[in-house]
Amino acid sequence: MTTIIYRARVLDVPTSPFTGGELRADEDVALTVTDGTITARGPLADARAQAPDAEVIDLRSGILLPGFVDTHVHYPQVRAIGGLGMPLLDWLDQCALPEEEHMADAAYAGQVAEEFLTGLKRAGTTSALVFGAHQASAMDLFFAAADRSQLRITAGLVVGDRLLKDALHTTPATAVAQAQHLIESWHGHGRLRYAVTPRFSLSATDELLDACAQTFASRDDLYFTSHINENPAEVATVAELFPQAAHYLDTYDRHGLLGARSILAHDVHPTAPELTRMAETGTTVSHCPSSNASLGSGLFPMRAHLDAGVHLALGSDVGGGTGFSLMKEGLLAYFAQQNRADGVPLAPEHLLHLATAAGAQALGLDQVGHLSVGMAFDGVLVRPQDGSTFEVVLRHADSSSDALAKVFSLGTPADVAGVWVSGEQVH
Ligand code: GUN
Ligand code: ZN
Repeated sequence: MTTIIYRARVLDVPTSPFTGGELRADEDVALTVTDGTITARGPLADARAQAPDAEVIDLRSGILLPGFVDTHVHYPQVRAIGGLGMPLLDWLDQCALPEEEHMADAAYAGQVAEEFLTGLKRAGTTSALVFGAHQASAMDLFFAAADRSQLRITAGLVVGDRLLKDALHTTPATAVAQAQHLIESWHGHGRLRYAVTPRFSLSATDELLDACAQTFASRDDLYFTSHINENPAEVATVAELFPQAAHYLDTYDRHGLLGARSILAHDVHPTAPELTRMAETGTTVSHCPSSNASLGSGLFPMRAHLDAGVHLALGSDVGGGTGFSLMKEGLLAYFAQQNRADGVPLAPEHLLHLATAAGAQALGLDQVGHLSVGMAFDGVLVRPQDGSTFEVVLRHADSSSDALAKVFSLGTPADVAGVWVSGEQVH
């Protein structure tokens, strides 16, 4: 049994501030961590009395937050970050899909997998729902790399059978067979889980969505993820391709793909019936603000989602998004609401909750998202570089909430000084 006491300034938001939860700020607290789990939280003297032999690690040079949870990020798109100047469908055609074709090369895919997992760690992300590659070989080596990384990764083979590049298309039978093989190899192995992942309805026939449904129903502990209502041209095309569907959400719903383990990215242009149905089924929307801003997809209608009771979390959407940092995504989520007439006034605690506990809840990761007793010690230490503007501004913050506002305004991966997953330092 290994016990370590972390003395730190800890900020977390265990309960949603959208429903009354508050920022919990402990300016100097001891977290006792035994074999990766937080077993006590309180004054240092108490921790020392309970565990006199434990090493004490002083993290008070920074701010300790729960590890970030990214609910939408594409593994094969690391090198596609920064393809500016295009709306979604052009960006897919000219930027993302040509890059994703390269993932057929095992050496290439292996390098990208390492770049991707390193990118997550350096940004302080400890759990992620990862949109995979279209090639089963690239997914097999991704899961192997993810297993070595120690991160909590839920991911799946991406499938499409129309309107992509020919080399990326599959068939319903192949999709089922390859998913089954990957599930047997990796689902439940260490911290890995499998998510059924049609790219979006635009690139999936009803037969392929049916195949996805067959896989999703094959066990009760799989996840489902895809895209929805991101861009007006995409939404119009989906309506043409599925004349029998009531709306975009219905293209997934009619195959039984919605529920508490389902996460749909974007939803910038939803209709009222779709929001009602998302809430009814417990589907989570992954809000991806930097991607929405970069691809000109629109300003996320957060108010409508909250009013309907839809669960929300945050996603970086690399490579449509502009990097792995959920600090940046939190800031851009705030910006988007500032620029909508009906914008939700987001406080720093909303941003931290969206970047941590909300994502953990969406992914069914009950043991992470905040730093309470009984939780796994998944944390990120944010420490500004000496002499930086961030350091100056943080030093002059006049409250914990203000300090958190500074973190979201100025924090970058360069300021991530330590990352732990279940008590193991992974960065
Ligand atoms: N819709 C379908 N594929 C993608 C993708 O790779 N990125 C984004 N942002 N939207 C998508
Ligand atoms: Zn995406």
